[in-house]
Amino acid sequence: MNEERIVIRRAGPLHGEVAIPGAKNSVLKLMAAGLLADGCFTLTNVPDIADVTIMADLLNAIGLRSERLDPHTLRMVNDGSIIPVAPYELVERIRASINVLGPLLGRFGCVSLSLPGGDDFGSRPIDMHLSGLQAMGATFEMRHGVVEASVSTPDSRLHGAEIVLDFPSVGATENILTAAVHAKGTTVIDHAAREPEIADLCNFLVEMGAEIEGVGSSRLVIHGVEPGTLHATDHRVVTDRIQAATYLAAVAVSGGEVVLRGARAEHMEMLLRRLADMGVTVLPVGDGGGESGDGLAVWASGRLRSIDFATLPYPGIATDYKPLLVTMLTVADGVGIVTENLYPGRFRYVEELQRLGADIRADGHHAVVRGVSRLSGAPVRAPDIRAGAALVVAGLAADGETSLTDVHHIDRGYDDLVGRLTALGADIERVDSA
Ligand code: EPU
Repeated sequence: MNEERIVIRRAGPLHGEVAIPGAKNSVLKLMAAGLLADGCFTLTNVPDIADVTIMADLLNAIGLRSERLDPHTLRMVNDGSIIPVAPYELVERIRASINVLGPLLGRFGCVSLSLPGGDDFGSRPIDMHLSGLQAMGATFEMRHGVVEASVSTPDSRLHGAEIVLDFPSVGATENILTAAVHAKGTTVIDHAAREPEIADLCNFLVEMGAEIEGVGSSRLVIHGVEPGTLHATDHRVVTDRIQAATYLAAVAVSGGEVVLRGARAEHMEMLLRRLADMGVTVLPVGDGGGESGDGLAVWASGRLRSIDFATLPYPGIATDYKPLLVTMLTVADGVGIVTENLYPGRFRYVEELQRLGADIRADGHHAVVRGVSRLSGAPVRAPDIRAGAALVVAGLAADGETSLTDVHHIDRGYDDLVGRLTALGADIERVDSA
Protein backbone atom coordinates (compact mmCIF):
# COMPACT_ATOMS: atom_id res chain seq x y z
CA MET A 1 0.00 0.00 0.00
CA ASN A 2 1.26 3.49 -0.88
CA GLU A 3 0.99 5.66 2.17
CA GLU A 4 1.55 9.35 2.17
CA ARG A 5 4.59 10.96 3.77
CA ILE A 6 5.09 14.45 5.08
CA VAL A 7 8.24 16.14 3.80
CA ILE A 8 9.53 19.13 5.78
CA ARG A 9 12.42 21.51 5.03
CA ARG A 10 13.73 24.27 7.25
CA ALA A 11 12.19 27.55 6.07
CA GLY A 12 12.85 30.26 8.63
CA PRO A 13 10.39 32.35 10.63
CA LEU A 14 6.63 31.72 10.46
CA HIS A 15 4.17 34.58 10.00
CA GLY A 16 0.42 35.05 9.77
CA GLU A 17 -2.71 33.66 11.40
CA VAL A 18 -3.94 30.16 12.04
CA ALA A 19 -7.43 29.16 13.17
CA ILE A 20 -7.24 26.53 15.94
CA PRO A 21 -9.81 23.75 15.42
CA GLY A 22 -12.07 22.08 18.01
CA ALA A 23 -10.62 19.53 20.42
CA LYS A 24 -10.45 15.83 19.52
CA ASN A 25 -10.58 14.87 23.16
CA SER A 26 -13.78 16.82 23.61
CA VAL A 27 -15.72 16.07 20.42
CA LEU A 28 -15.32 12.28 20.75
CA LYS A 29 -16.85 12.40 24.24
CA LEU A 30 -19.67 14.73 23.16
CA MET A 31 -20.50 12.31 20.35
CA ALA A 32 -20.70 9.39 22.81
CA ALA A 33 -22.90 11.50 25.11
CA GLY A 34 -25.36 11.76 22.20
CA LEU A 35 -26.41 8.22 23.24
CA LEU A 36 -28.06 9.77 26.33
CA ALA A 37 -31.05 11.46 24.67
CA ASP A 38 -33.29 11.02 21.65
CA GLY A 39 -33.43 13.80 19.08
CA CYS A 40 -31.18 15.71 16.71
CA PHE A 41 -27.87 17.21 17.89
CA THR A 42 -25.70 19.65 15.94
CA LEU A 43 -22.03 19.98 16.91
CA THR A 44 -20.06 22.90 15.46
CA ASN A 45 -16.31 23.63 15.49
CA VAL A 46 -15.83 19.88 14.93
CA PRO A 47 -12.24 19.09 13.87
CA ASP A 48 -11.91 17.41 10.47
CA ILE A 49 -9.91 14.41 11.75
CA ALA A 50 -9.99 10.65 11.26
CA ASP A 51 -10.96 9.87 14.87
CA VAL A 52 -14.30 11.67 14.41
CA THR A 53 -15.05 9.38 11.45
CA ILE A 54 -14.04 6.28 13.43
CA MET A 55 -16.19 7.33 16.40
CA ALA A 56 -19.11 8.04 14.05
CA ASP A 57 -18.77 4.51 12.60
CA LEU A 58 -18.82 3.01 16.11
CA LEU A 59 -21.85 5.04 17.18
CA ASN A 60 -23.60 4.23 13.91
CA ALA A 61 -23.19 0.50 14.68
CA ILE A 62 -24.78 1.14 18.08
CA GLY A 63 -27.67 3.10 16.48
CA LEU A 64 -26.69 6.79 16.74
CA ARG A 65 -26.49 8.07 13.17
CA SER A 66 -24.47 11.07 12.10
CA GLU A 67 -23.53 13.07 9.02
CA ARG A 68 -21.20 15.98 8.40
CA LEU A 69 -23.16 18.99 7.15
CA ASP A 70 -19.79 20.53 6.27
CA PRO A 71 -16.24 19.56 7.35
CA HIS A 72 -16.71 21.24 10.74
CA THR A 73 -20.39 20.61 11.51
CA LEU A 74 -21.71 17.24 12.60
CA ARG A 75 -25.39 16.37 12.89
CA MET A 76 -26.23 13.33 15.04
CA VAL A 77 -29.69 11.74 15.11
CA ASN A 78 -30.71 9.51 17.98
CA ASP A 79 -34.09 8.03 17.05
CA GLY A 80 -34.19 5.71 20.05
CA SER A 81 -33.11 2.55 18.19
CA ILE A 82 -29.95 2.02 20.26
CA ILE A 83 -28.43 -1.46 20.67
CA PRO A 84 -25.99 -1.31 23.63
CA VAL A 85 -23.35 -3.52 22.01
CA ALA A 86 -19.97 -2.14 20.87
CA PRO A 87 -18.28 -4.58 18.46
CA TYR A 88 -14.54 -5.32 18.59
CA GLU A 89 -13.69 -4.35 14.97
CA LEU A 90 -14.75 -0.77 15.71
CA VAL A 91 -13.81 -0.47 19.39
CA GLU A 92 -10.22 -1.57 18.86
CA ARG A 93 -9.59 1.32 16.46
CA ILE A 94 -9.99 4.07 19.04
CA ARG A 95 -9.34 4.48 22.75
CA ALA A 96 -12.29 6.88 23.21
CA SER A 97 -14.69 4.01 22.38
CA ILE A 98 -14.57 3.32 26.14
CA ASN A 99 -16.68 6.49 26.47
CA VAL A 100 -19.83 4.68 25.31
CA LEU A 101 -19.79 2.65 28.55
CA GLY A 102 -21.13 5.38 30.89
CA PRO A 103 -23.98 6.65 28.69
CA LEU A 104 -25.17 3.15 27.71
CA LEU A 105 -25.00 1.70 31.21
CA GLY A 106 -26.67 4.74 32.78
CA ARG A 107 -29.48 4.85 30.24
CA PHE A 108 -30.13 1.19 29.42
CA GLY A 109 -28.74 -0.69 32.43
CA CYS A 110 -26.67 -3.06 30.29
CA VAL A 111 -23.85 -2.92 27.77
CA SER A 112 -21.55 -5.33 26.03
CA LEU A 113 -18.22 -3.66 25.17
CA SER A 114 -15.01 -5.07 23.74
CA LEU A 115 -11.91 -3.70 25.42
CA PRO A 116 -10.57 -0.64 23.58
CA GLY A 117 -7.28 -0.14 21.73
CA GLY A 118 -5.69 3.26 21.14
CA ASP A 119 -2.16 4.58 21.16
CA ASP A 120 0.71 2.22 21.69
CA PHE A 121 2.39 3.83 24.66
CA GLY A 122 1.99 1.32 27.44
CA SER A 123 -0.77 -0.37 29.36
CA ARG A 124 -3.91 1.75 29.79
CA PRO A 125 -6.17 0.02 32.33
CA ILE A 126 -9.83 0.90 33.06
CA ASP A 127 -10.01 -0.27 36.68
CA MET A 128 -11.10 3.18 37.95
CA HIS A 129 -13.92 3.34 35.40
CA LEU A 130 -15.19 -0.04 36.56
CA SER A 131 -14.83 0.49 40.32
CA GLY A 132 -16.65 3.86 40.12
CA LEU A 133 -19.54 2.32 38.21
CA GLN A 134 -19.57 -0.68 40.59
CA ALA A 135 -20.04 1.72 43.51
CA MET A 136 -23.17 2.91 41.66
CA GLY A 137 -24.58 -0.63 41.44
CA ALA A 138 -23.13 -1.99 38.18
CA THR A 139 -21.74 -5.49 37.87
CA PHE A 140 -19.12 -6.55 35.34
CA GLU A 141 -18.11 -9.84 33.83
CA MET A 142 -15.14 -10.15 31.53
CA ARG A 143 -15.52 -12.84 28.85
CA HIS A 144 -13.35 -13.38 25.78
CA GLY A 145 -12.12 -9.76 25.79
CA VAL A 146 -15.64 -8.37 26.21
CA VAL A 147 -16.89 -6.47 29.27
CA GLU A 148 -20.51 -7.44 29.98
CA ALA A 149 -21.93 -4.74 32.24
CA SER A 150 -25.35 -4.74 33.87
CA VAL A 151 -27.41 -3.20 36.66
CA SER A 152 -29.47 -5.76 38.56
CA THR A 153 -32.19 -3.54 40.06
CA PRO A 154 -35.86 -3.91 38.98
CA ASP A 155 -35.74 -0.64 37.00
CA SER A 156 -32.14 -1.25 35.75
CA ARG A 157 -31.08 2.15 37.14
CA LEU A 158 -27.76 2.94 38.77
CA HIS A 159 -27.83 4.72 42.12
CA GLY A 160 -25.85 7.75 43.29
CA ALA A 161 -22.60 7.17 45.18
CA GLU A 162 -19.66 9.05 46.70
CA ILE A 163 -16.65 8.17 44.57
CA VAL A 164 -13.08 9.22 45.27
CA LEU A 165 -10.79 8.54 42.32
CA ASP A 166 -7.27 7.27 43.17
CA PHE A 167 -6.00 9.45 40.33
CA PRO A 168 -7.83 12.15 38.30
CA SER A 169 -8.34 9.92 35.27
CA VAL A 170 -9.92 11.71 32.31
CA GLY A 171 -11.74 8.65 30.98
CA ALA A 172 -12.95 7.41 34.41
CA THR A 173 -14.30 10.87 35.28
CA GLU A 174 -16.16 11.02 31.96
CA ASN A 175 -17.67 7.54 32.21
CA ILE A 176 -18.84 8.00 35.81
CA LEU A 177 -20.23 11.45 34.94
CA THR A 178 -22.19 10.28 31.91
CA ALA A 179 -23.56 7.28 33.84
CA ALA A 180 -24.50 9.46 36.84
CA VAL A 181 -26.73 11.87 34.91
CA HIS A 182 -29.41 9.12 34.82
CA ALA A 183 -28.72 7.55 38.24
CA LYS A 184 -31.21 7.57 41.10
CA GLY A 185 -29.97 10.20 43.58
CA THR A 186 -26.75 12.19 43.79
CA THR A 187 -23.28 11.10 42.72
CA VAL A 188 -20.16 12.88 43.93
CA ILE A 189 -16.89 12.42 42.02
CA ASP A 190 -14.00 13.60 44.17
CA HIS A 191 -10.47 14.03 42.81
CA ALA A 192 -12.13 14.27 39.37
CA ALA A 193 -10.10 15.21 36.30
CA ARG A 194 -10.69 18.86 35.40
CA GLU A 195 -9.35 19.22 31.90
CA PRO A 196 -11.17 21.88 29.80
CA GLU A 197 -12.58 19.05 27.66
CA ILE A 198 -14.33 17.63 30.75
CA ALA A 199 -15.84 21.03 31.50
CA ASP A 200 -16.99 21.10 27.86
CA LEU A 201 -18.67 17.71 28.34
CA CYS A 202 -20.32 18.93 31.58
CA ASN A 203 -21.62 22.04 29.81
CA PHE A 204 -23.02 19.88 26.99
CA LEU A 205 -24.77 17.60 29.51
CA VAL A 206 -26.22 20.62 31.35
CA GLU A 207 -27.50 21.97 28.02
CA MET A 208 -29.21 18.56 27.60
CA GLY A 209 -30.96 19.00 30.96
CA ALA A 210 -28.50 17.28 33.34
CA GLU A 211 -27.93 18.70 36.82
CA ILE A 212 -24.22 19.10 37.56
CA GLU A 213 -22.47 21.29 40.15
CA GLY A 214 -18.75 22.04 40.35
CA VAL A 215 -18.11 22.18 36.59
CA GLY A 216 -14.38 22.76 36.02
CA SER A 217 -13.46 21.71 39.58
CA SER A 218 -12.12 18.46 41.02
CA ARG A 219 -15.41 17.77 42.85
CA LEU A 220 -18.34 17.10 40.56
CA VAL A 221 -21.81 16.70 42.09
CA ILE A 222 -24.34 15.14 39.75
CA HIS A 223 -28.03 14.98 40.64
CA GLY A 224 -29.51 12.17 38.52
CA VAL A 225 -32.57 12.97 36.40
CA GLU A 226 -35.40 10.60 35.39
CA PRO A 227 -34.65 8.63 32.21
CA GLY A 228 -36.34 10.30 29.25
CA THR A 229 -35.94 13.84 30.54
CA LEU A 230 -32.67 14.71 28.79
CA HIS A 231 -33.03 16.24 25.34
CA ALA A 232 -30.83 16.79 22.28
CA THR A 233 -28.98 20.09 21.96
CA ASP A 234 -26.60 22.07 19.73
CA HIS A 235 -23.09 22.77 20.96
CA ARG A 236 -19.81 24.38 19.87
CA VAL A 237 -16.78 22.18 20.63
CA VAL A 238 -14.10 23.80 22.81
CA THR A 239 -10.87 24.82 21.03
CA ASP A 240 -8.07 22.25 20.99
CA ARG A 241 -5.31 23.31 23.41
CA ILE A 242 -2.99 20.56 22.13
CA GLN A 243 -3.28 21.63 18.50
CA ALA A 244 -2.76 25.23 19.69
CA ALA A 245 0.39 24.12 21.56
CA THR A 246 1.66 22.50 18.35
CA TYR A 247 1.61 25.85 16.51
CA LEU A 248 3.21 27.52 19.55
CA ALA A 249 6.03 24.97 19.36
CA ALA A 250 6.36 25.46 15.59
CA VAL A 251 6.90 29.20 16.09
CA ALA A 252 9.20 28.58 19.05
CA VAL A 253 11.65 26.52 16.96
CA SER A 254 11.29 28.50 13.71
CA GLY A 255 11.00 32.03 15.08
CA GLY A 256 8.38 34.44 13.79
CA GLU A 257 5.13 36.02 14.81
CA VAL A 258 1.79 34.22 14.55
CA VAL A 259 -1.77 34.73 15.81
CA LEU A 260 -3.60 31.59 16.95
CA ARG A 261 -7.29 32.39 16.43
CA GLY A 262 -9.54 30.79 19.04
CA ALA A 263 -6.70 29.57 21.31
CA ARG A 264 -7.57 30.08 24.98
CA ALA A 265 -4.91 31.26 27.41
CA GLU A 266 -6.95 30.14 30.44
CA HIS A 267 -6.75 26.51 29.23
CA MET A 268 -2.97 26.58 28.83
CA GLU A 269 -1.73 28.66 31.75
CA MET A 270 1.05 26.39 33.00
CA LEU A 271 2.31 25.73 29.47
CA LEU A 272 2.39 29.44 28.66
CA ARG A 273 4.38 30.14 31.83
CA ARG A 274 6.97 27.51 30.90
CA LEU A 275 7.15 28.80 27.32
CA ALA A 276 7.91 32.25 28.75
CA ASP A 277 10.75 30.64 30.75
CA MET A 278 12.08 29.28 27.45
CA GLY A 279 11.99 32.73 25.84
CA VAL A 280 8.71 32.49 23.89
CA THR A 281 6.33 35.44 24.26
CA VAL A 282 2.60 34.66 24.18
CA LEU A 283 -0.06 37.32 24.71
CA PRO A 284 -3.85 37.33 24.40
CA VAL A 285 -5.32 39.23 21.48
CA GLY A 286 -8.80 40.79 21.52
CA ASP A 287 -10.42 40.61 24.93
CA GLY A 288 -8.20 37.95 26.42
CA GLY A 289 -8.63 34.69 24.53
CA GLY A 290 -11.84 33.63 26.29
CA GLU A 291 -14.90 32.12 24.58
CA SER A 292 -15.59 35.44 22.85
CA GLY A 293 -11.91 36.47 22.65
CA ASP A 294 -9.77 36.35 19.56
CA GLY A 295 -6.95 34.06 20.61
CA LEU A 296 -3.23 34.31 21.30
CA ALA A 297 -0.31 36.00 19.60
CA VAL A 298 3.10 34.27 19.80
CA TRP A 299 6.55 35.73 19.07
CA ALA A 300 9.90 33.97 19.13
CA SER A 301 13.37 34.87 17.94
CA GLY A 302 16.84 33.64 18.82
CA ARG A 303 17.74 30.49 20.70
CA LEU A 304 15.34 28.95 23.25
CA ARG A 305 16.43 28.42 26.87
CA SER A 306 16.24 24.93 28.44
CA ILE A 307 13.86 24.16 31.31
CA ASP A 308 13.10 21.12 33.48
CA PHE A 309 9.48 19.97 33.55
CA ALA A 310 7.23 17.12 34.68
CA THR A 311 3.89 16.03 33.19
CA LEU A 312 0.91 16.13 35.53
CA PRO A 313 -2.89 16.00 35.29
CA TYR A 314 -4.55 19.33 34.46
CA PRO A 315 -3.79 22.11 35.32
CA GLY A 316 -0.21 20.73 35.20
CA ILE A 317 1.79 20.27 31.99
CA ALA A 318 -0.22 17.74 29.94
CA THR A 319 1.47 14.54 28.82
CA ASP A 320 0.19 15.41 25.33
CA TYR A 321 2.39 18.54 25.28
CA LYS A 322 5.50 16.61 26.22
CA PRO A 323 6.78 15.52 22.78
CA LEU A 324 6.46 19.16 21.66
CA LEU A 325 8.40 20.48 24.66
CA VAL A 326 11.05 17.77 24.30
CA THR A 327 11.45 18.80 20.65
CA MET A 328 11.90 22.42 21.72
CA LEU A 329 14.53 21.32 24.27
CA THR A 330 16.51 19.49 21.57
CA VAL A 331 17.50 22.85 20.05
CA ALA A 332 17.50 24.96 23.25
CA ASP A 333 20.51 26.35 25.05
CA GLY A 334 21.39 24.11 28.01
CA VAL A 335 20.11 20.84 29.51
CA GLY A 336 16.49 19.99 30.36
CA ILE A 337 15.29 17.15 32.60
CA VAL A 338 11.87 15.75 31.71
CA THR A 339 9.75 13.54 33.98
CA GLU A 340 6.73 11.65 32.62
CA ASN A 341 4.21 10.90 35.37
CA LEU A 342 1.32 9.50 33.31
CA TYR A 343 2.53 6.99 30.74
CA PRO A 344 5.85 5.19 31.36
CA GLY A 345 6.17 4.08 27.71
CA ARG A 346 5.69 7.53 26.27
CA PHE A 347 9.29 8.21 25.27
CA ARG A 348 9.28 6.03 22.16
CA TYR A 349 9.65 8.95 19.76
CA VAL A 350 13.03 9.75 21.36
CA GLU A 351 14.75 7.37 18.95
CA GLU A 352 13.20 9.25 16.05
CA LEU A 353 14.43 12.59 17.42
CA GLN A 354 17.88 11.04 17.85
CA ARG A 355 17.84 10.22 14.13
CA LEU A 356 17.51 13.96 13.58
CA GLY A 357 20.62 14.57 15.69
CA ALA A 358 18.97 15.26 19.06
CA ASP A 359 21.01 14.50 22.19
CA ILE A 360 18.52 12.74 24.51
CA ARG A 361 18.99 10.03 27.16
CA ALA A 362 15.68 8.45 28.19
CA ASP A 363 15.24 5.89 30.94
CA GLY A 364 11.86 4.84 32.37
CA HIS A 365 9.99 7.97 33.39
CA HIS A 366 12.89 10.37 32.78
CA ALA A 367 14.73 11.98 29.89
CA VAL A 368 17.72 14.30 29.84
CA VAL A 369 17.80 16.55 26.78
CA ARG A 370 21.02 18.45 25.89
CA GLY A 371 20.28 21.15 23.36
CA VAL A 372 22.22 21.06 20.07
CA SER A 373 22.59 24.08 17.82
CA ARG A 374 20.92 22.43 14.79
CA LEU A 375 18.99 19.24 14.02
CA SER A 376 19.64 17.57 10.69
CA GLY A 377 16.85 16.20 8.50
CA ALA A 378 16.39 12.43 8.11
CA PRO A 379 13.67 9.83 7.43
CA VAL A 380 11.57 9.31 10.60
CA ARG A 381 8.36 7.54 11.60
CA ALA A 382 5.38 8.91 13.57
CA PRO A 383 4.82 6.53 16.54
CA ASP A 384 1.54 8.17 17.70
CA ILE A 385 -0.51 11.33 17.19
CA ARG A 386 1.35 13.73 19.46
CA ALA A 387 4.83 12.39 18.78
CA GLY A 388 4.04 12.57 15.05
CA ALA A 389 3.17 16.25 15.31
CA ALA A 390 6.30 16.87 17.37
CA LEU A 391 8.43 15.28 14.63
CA VAL A 392 6.87 17.69 12.13
CA VAL A 393 7.93 20.53 14.45
CA ALA A 394 11.42 18.99 14.70
CA GLY A 395 11.57 18.92 10.90
CA LEU A 396 10.98 22.68 10.87
CA ALA A 397 14.13 23.07 12.99
CA ALA A 398 16.27 20.62 11.00
CA ASP A 399 18.70 21.42 8.19
CA GLY A 400 17.89 19.61 4.96
CA GLU A 401 14.89 17.38 4.44
CA THR A 402 12.90 15.41 7.03
CA SER A 403 10.60 12.75 5.64
CA LEU A 404 7.92 11.47 8.04
CA THR A 405 6.04 8.21 7.50
CA ASP A 406 3.05 6.65 9.35
CA VAL A 407 1.29 9.99 8.99
CA HIS A 408 -2.10 8.32 9.54
CA HIS A 409 -1.39 8.80 13.26
CA ILE A 410 -1.28 12.58 12.77
CA ASP A 411 -4.51 12.49 10.73
CA ARG A 412 -6.29 10.95 13.74
CA GLY A 413 -5.97 14.16 15.74
CA TYR A 414 -4.79 17.05 13.54
CA ASP A 415 -7.03 19.02 11.21
CA ASP A 416 -4.88 19.86 8.16
CA LEU A 417 -1.60 20.38 10.00
CA VAL A 418 0.30 20.57 6.70
CA GLY A 419 -2.06 23.13 5.13
CA ARG A 420 -2.06 25.29 8.23
CA LEU A 421 1.75 25.29 8.51
CA THR A 422 2.10 26.01 4.78
CA ALA A 423 -0.14 29.06 5.19
CA LEU A 424 2.27 30.30 7.88
CA GLY A 425 5.21 30.03 5.48
CA ALA A 426 6.58 26.59 6.40
CA ASP A 427 8.15 24.46 3.67
CA ILE A 428 6.11 21.28 4.14
CA GLU A 429 4.13 19.00 1.84
CA ARG A 430 2.38 15.65 1.68
CA VAL A 431 3.65 13.30 -0.96
CA ASP A 432 2.87 9.72 -1.93
CA SER A 433 5.42 7.22 -0.65
CA ALA A 434 6.90 5.46 -3.63
N1 EPU B 1 -5.41 4.83 34.49
C1 EPU B 1 -5.51 3.73 35.30
N2 EPU B 1 -6.75 3.18 35.51
C2 EPU B 1 -7.87 3.70 34.95
C3 EPU B 1 -7.76 4.84 34.13
C4 EPU B 1 -6.51 5.39 33.92
O1 EPU B 1 -4.52 3.23 35.81
O2 EPU B 1 -8.96 3.17 35.19
C5 EPU B 1 -4.08 5.42 34.26
C6 EPU B 1 -3.69 5.28 32.78
O3 EPU B 1 -3.13 4.03 32.51
C7 EPU B 1 -2.70 6.41 32.61
C8 EPU B 1 -3.27 7.49 33.52
O4 EPU B 1 -4.12 6.82 34.44
O5 EPU B 1 -1.44 6.04 33.09
C9 EPU B 1 -4.05 8.58 32.78
O6 EPU B 1 -5.18 8.04 32.14
P1 EPU B 1 -6.50 8.86 31.85
O7 EPU B 1 -7.66 7.98 32.14
O8 EPU B 1 -6.44 10.20 32.50
O9 EPU B 1 -6.38 9.10 30.26
P2 EPU B 1 -7.33 8.62 29.12
O10 EPU B 1 -8.73 9.03 29.40
O11 EPU B 1 -7.06 7.21 28.75
C10 EPU B 1 -7.05 10.92 27.86
C11 EPU B 1 -6.71 11.36 26.47
C12 EPU B 1 -5.22 11.18 26.21
C13 EPU B 1 -4.44 11.95 27.25
C14 EPU B 1 -4.87 11.51 28.68
C15 EPU B 1 -4.21 12.29 29.79
C16 EPU B 1 -8.68 10.87 25.19
C17 EPU B 1 -9.33 10.03 24.16
N3 EPU B 1 -7.44 10.56 25.50
O12 EPU B 1 -6.76 9.52 27.92
O13 EPU B 1 -4.98 11.76 24.95
O14 EPU B 1 -3.06 11.71 27.07
O15 EPU B 1 -6.30 11.67 28.81
O16 EPU B 1 -4.48 13.64 29.65
O17 EPU B 1 -9.27 11.80 25.73
C18 EPU B 1 -4.16 11.86 22.74
O18 EPU B 1 -5.06 12.68 22.48
O19 EPU B 1 -3.20 11.64 21.94
C19 EPU B 1 -4.18 11.14 24.01
C20 EPU B 1 -3.49 10.05 24.21
